Formats: sequence, structure tokens, C-alpha cells
Amino acid sequence: MNLDKLMSKHLSRYLDPSKAIPEETLQQLLRFLRSAPTSTNIQPNHFYVLATPEGKERLANNLGDFDNGEKILRASHAIILTTRVDLPESHVEAVFSKERADGRFPDLAQQELRESMNSDFLGFLGLPRMYGDENMNHWMEKQTYMVLGMTLMAAAELGVEAMPLEGFDPVCVDEAFKIRETGYTATVLMLLGYPDPAKVYSNPISRFESDQLFTFR
Ligand SMILES: Cc1cc2nc3c(=O)[nH]c(=O)nc-3n(C[C@H](O)[C@H](O)[C@H](O)COP(=O)(O)O)c2cc1C
Repeated sequence: MNLDKLMSKHLSRYLDPSKAIPEETLQQLLRFLRSAPTSTNIQPNHFYVLATPEGKERLANNLGDFDNGEKILRASHAIILTTRVDLPESHVEAVFSKERADGRFPDLAQQELRESMNSDFLGFLGLPRMYGDENMNHWMEKQTYMVLGMTLMAAAELGVEAMPLEGFDPVCVDEAFKIRETGYTATVLMLLGYPDPAKVYSNPISRFESDQLFTFR
């Protein structure tokens, strides 16, 4: 990956509507979304992959009071990254049971130790004490952003432009795709495609200086 390029480039707001991502590249990115790590392996996400004009239009027309519609319609694909609204015991059990089926640990004793420690962390001894049961979505959305960040880098490696979008009303998107009913809510969008050459910014990016950002001790 060209790290210098990544550090000096603007996110493309406008993608080239005439260019679609090859299916194989899309599948690589989806595999990446699926395999990104999350804290305690909680995997709190479900992804809506909008590849059809109808799917993208549905999203573009249901953003609430935000004007990101055109950006979405110009993308090859739009992905809605959704996150669990709450963390029921059944979800934690599903993680443990998949880990067992996949042979995540070499022996049962280690798996059981892991389950006991993670249950403490995720249960009343740990996270809910810090966040409150009603705010566990906040913790899970942190995982979603890490998945997003890693996927932005994977897209760069694959030569695809990935554009994150927060400019939408989750209530409207949830409603349009019946997401809440599934126990999830829309967290952030990711558009995929190739930059529109007519709309590439060439002026420098603006970031705080290092001395404002780093403390060395
Ligand atoms: C998580 C995230 C969400 C963003 N959402 C939007 C958005 O909804 N609309 C938009 O025009 N830009 C959006 N951006 C782009 C940022 O505004 C942009 O990256 C930032 O202002 C820095 O500008 P630059 O990428 O041109 O350097 C988003 C960026 C990130 C990382």
C-alpha cells in the first residue's frame, strides 16, 4: 500500500457513476468486513450491501435532513454498517457456540476459561457497569468504527475508493430497511467505487500539527 498517498489524500466525496467494482473485489472486501477483529470477538454487526439502483435509491431517499443522496447514487456499492441495539445473552451465546464449532481454542478448558472471563467482562461485573445496560450499543458501535477503519485501509490496498458517511438520520434508514425489527440499528455508511476524475481535490489536506497530537513521556 502506498502509505504516503493514503496520508496525503482527501476522501473522495464524489465517485464515478460509470465505474462498478468487479465482483471479485467486492467479495474480497466483504470477506474483510467479516474477518475484522472486534473486542471479545463480539461481532455486533450486520451489513446491508446495496448493489442495485433500487437499493441505493431507497437509501438516498431516506437520509432524513441530509444531502448525501447524490454521493450514494454515484457509488458502485453502498454498505449500511449496522450494530446491535442491545446485547442479549443469546448473542453472547451465539459467539461462544460459533467459536466452539470453529475450534477457536485447542481444548475445551481454554474455551471455557475464555467464556467465563468474557461473560464477566460483558456481564454485570464489567462493561454494563461502566456504560449502563442501556448504552451497550455505544460500546458495540466502537467496534463498528474499527471494522470501518480497517476496511477503508483494505479498500485502499485493493485500489478502491471507500467513503464513510455519517450524514444520515439512523431513524429514517432503520425505518426504510426495517432494521430495528432485527435488533440492529444503522451506525455508519460506506460507499465504494472509483473517484470521479473531474472532482478530485488537489489542495493539501488540513490536520493539526504533531506537537498538538502527541505527548511523549
Ligand atoms: C466517519 C466519517 C464520516 C464522514 N461523513 C461524511 C458525510 O456524511 N458527508 C461528507 O461530505 N463527508 C463525510 N466525511 C468526510 C470528512 O468530512 C472528511 O474526511 C474530513 O473533513 C477531512 O477532509 P479530507 O478527507 O478532505 O481531508 C466523513 C468522514 C469520516 C471519517
